[in-house]
Amino acid sequence: MGERALSAGPPQAHRAPPRGAGAQQPGVSTPIAALALRGVTCTFVSRDNRSQRYTAVEDVTLHVAPGEFVSVVGPTGCGKSTLLNVGAGLLESSAGQVHVFGQPLLGINRRAGYMFQTEALMPWRTARANVMAGLEFRGETDAGAQADEWLKRVGLGGFGDRYPHQLSGGMRKRTSLAQTLVLDPDIILMDEPFSALDIQTRQLMENEVLELWAAKKKAVLFITHDLDEAIAMSDRVIVLSAGPAAHPMGEFVIDLPRPRDVAEVRVTPRFVDLHKAIWDVLRDEVLKGYAQQRLVA
Ligand SMILES: Nc1ncnc2c1ncn2[C@@H]1O[C@H](COP(=O)(O)OP(=O)(O)OP(=O)(O)O)[C@@H](O)[C@H]1O
Ligand SMILES: [Mg+2]
Repeated sequence: MGERALSAGPPQAHRAPPRGAGAQQPGVSTPIAALALRGVTCTFVSRDNRSQRYTAVEDVTLHVAPGEFVSVVGPTGCGKSTLLNVGAGLLESSAGQVHVFGQPLLGINRRAGYMFQTEALMPWRTARANVMAGLEFRGETDAGAQADEWLKRVGLGGFGDRYPHQLSGGMRKRTSLAQTLVLDPDIILMDEPFSALDIQTRQLMENEVLELWAAKKKAVLFITHDLDEAIAMSDRVIVLSAGPAAHPMGEFVIDLPRPRDVAEVRVTPRFVDLHKAIWDVLRDEVLKGYAQQRLVA
């Protein structure tokens, strides 16, 4: 990450690697990625009519280095959650491979923590019991103490005994964050974690996530449709095309200095340059995605 973060000059747009590329070249040593998707294609088959197929993503190659914060942006419905599900091992791709720290992924990715796009707290459990759940599943004996520690870290020290319906939307997201991070995953997968929040709460949480990330430097694959958020948080932003057969259209190194305050960094000239360069690629895809959804509706 270091060398990328220091690069200067005009925003660097890298075309995505050629489709199907990604295999290591002989004689070229590349560091092992925390998470690598190579040539991933996902085709969904209609349950009612087996002859009806929809290829959401096609031949997607992307990687996240250990300690790197990578965002994927793309129009709604293009296949962002699908890719994250493949990386989590929740969805088997129709073609391609997934490697986790150099090992082929078979089944659930046990080195990853997943913060889902939809609310995933168990309504019958308190915030504390929700945070404890994964640790209990692992059979850890100090689950309660660890949950209390993480609830404090996300600013919910006094709210552990509340049920999800007794928490605000921001508090529920904080609980989900604690639930994910308490397991100390090497890879963190986040699917539009703050999209339902008001802008102030959202920026506070983005800064909190950056602080937590800076302390532990885990590999993060972050999905968002919000380009500002992607640039403010990331080391690298990958732009996905509109579907069907969505694929990376471009890859941008975000060389803004860290630590960052997400509100302050947005008004810097470099941020504005990066935003313009990425939006030039993303704009047409967003329009295509929007047009397709109107056709289906
Ligand atoms: N299990 C499934 N069966 C059939 N089609 C699916 C399935 N999961 C996803 N799709 C389709 O694949 C495409 C990509 O879906 P996905 O949820 O990955 O998009 P997304 O980029 O995350 O969208 P959003 O930004 O709205 O969250 C969509 O057209 C969706 O309808
Ligand atoms: Mg999604």
